[in-house]
Amino acid sequence: MRDLAGKTAFITGGDSGIGLGVAQSLCHAGMNVIICGVVPETLQSAQRELARIGKAEAIELDVRDREAFAALADRLDRGYGGVDVLVNNAGVGFLAPVAEATFEQWDWVLDINLTGVFNGIRTFLPRMLASGRPGHIVSTASIGGLLGTPGALYVAAKFGVVGLMEALAAELWDTPVNVSVLTPGIVRTNIHKGPPPPGEPRPHAPGATAEADLHETAIQPREVGERVLQAIREERLYVLTHAEHRELLARRFDAILASVPTDQGDPRRAAVERTVLANPIYDEILTAAEARQ
Ligand SMILES: NC(=O)c1ccc[n+]([C@@H]2O[C@H](COP(=O)([O-])OP(=O)(O)OC[C@H]3O[C@@H](n4cnc5c(N)ncnc54)[C@H](O)[C@@H]3O)[C@@H](O)[C@H]2O)c1
Repeated sequence: MRDLAGKTAFITGGDSGIGLGVAQSLCHAGMNVIICGVVPETLQSAQRELARIGKAEAIELDVRDREAFAALADRLDRGYGGVDVLVNNAGVGFLAPVAEATFEQWDWVLDINLTGVFNGIRTFLPRMLASGRPGHIVSTASIGGLLGTPGALYVAAKFGVVGLMEALAAELWDTPVNVSVLTPGIVRTNIHKGPPPPGEPRPHAPGATAEADLHETAIQPREVGERVLQAIREERLYVLTHAEHRELLARRFDAILASVPTDQGDPRRAAVERTVLANPIYDEILTAAEARQ
């Protein structure tokens, strides 16, 4: 979607961190930007900040609230003629190990980080398709959606977001709506100060990294915002943020490939499996990458 000026974007969790970085980039690109969040004070200050760049509105909405989503979509249809770019970004961190987590904490993490993404897509996608206009949906996962990092509940939700967006890319193959999935590494945001989980999980640090290193090597939300803007313009599925992830990803994919049965396989079964499982998006990305080299 090259032509963004004058179009409308809706960003969940757009009042802080990565969501605000994306909002700033889309505002600079000339879009009308509507952000939502759950904290009235940060919504107001983000709205003021964005209004200095362009046209911005802030609305309180919890991504778990499906009725509020539907009412908001009606309102954006009336006020803006619909949404052209949807960014499902709202999320919460949770690092406690599985053995310590409660069922309530599982529901909380999955409801916000995965079901919240589906709620946004299910609300806006039919309207975007019905408009017949080019559209784009971005969902924020995490590098923890591609690697089994610490924080298994969070990782389960983020793998879910990656899977949802890859499969959605295939479903929308022949439509004017494109999708991206954002998988950032550590970004300097307020995620550690976000809404508290139910119960009282013990605090867990992300690995044994020194606090100073963690803080000083984190990238800025604005950098992520620019990557998302580029991905929308270039219709790219994967939005990765850290060159440092290459080696870690290669280890995971190599480990999976090393576990594939080594027999010759059956050609007829191979044809069936390919027909059922192949996603054209992988070939397209590889072909485009080869063309760039
Ligand atoms: N910060 C990182 O290092 C990092 C890395 C990978 C992925 N992420 C992901 O990026 C996204 C944004 O996080 P961030 O780091 O910018 O944190 P942040 O706390 O600065 O921003 C999160 C935003 O989500 C909103 N939010 C939380 N619960 C909500 C709910 N129920 N309904 C609506 N809004 C809600 C918050 O109000 C806030 O605006 C999250 O999905 C997070 O999992 C963050």
